[in-house]
Amino acid sequence: MKLSLEDRERLIHEATLARTRAYAPYSRYQVGAAILTEDGQLFSGGNVENAVYPLGLCAERVAIAAAVAAGVRRVIALAVITANGGTPCGACRQVLREFAEVDTPVLIGTPDGAYHEMRLEDLLPESFSVADLSQD
Ligand code: THU
Repeated sequence: MKLSLEDRERLIHEATLARTRAYAPYSRYQVGAAILTEDGQLFSGGNVENAVYPLGLCAERVAIAAAVAAGVRRVIALAVITANGGTPCGACRQVLREFAEVDTPVLIGTPDGAYHEMRLEDLLPESFSVADLSQD
């Protein structure tokens, strides 16, 4: 899957905006994520923390849940923005895999607009997916 420059820019813009809306009063580590769907829709989210710390939600999973709630089942790209260019956590990589192919582009960037591109399979090699459930 090759992303157009316009799609990259939209993803980075939406993820950067979503980061400004993150609710992260405990870690003070704001994360913004955006995803692009097959039909060109964008969904975004920020991390949502809680006074009961383990209940916090990661930005990537908030964005994916928003898309799924809207009826989406296929994600074709994801962008994540943090202050220091942090990569998606392991749990988010696996949740993305549920709705995305291994060659899905993942854009990882910072609020100044800089980013680099990886593939989901770089972040989650030899991933387990629904296909594995049907192997005898
Ligand atoms: N966080 C995310 O939103 N996404 C990630 O992939 C890594 C971590 C959030 C969770 C928590 O609110 C804060 O960043 C610090 O871990």
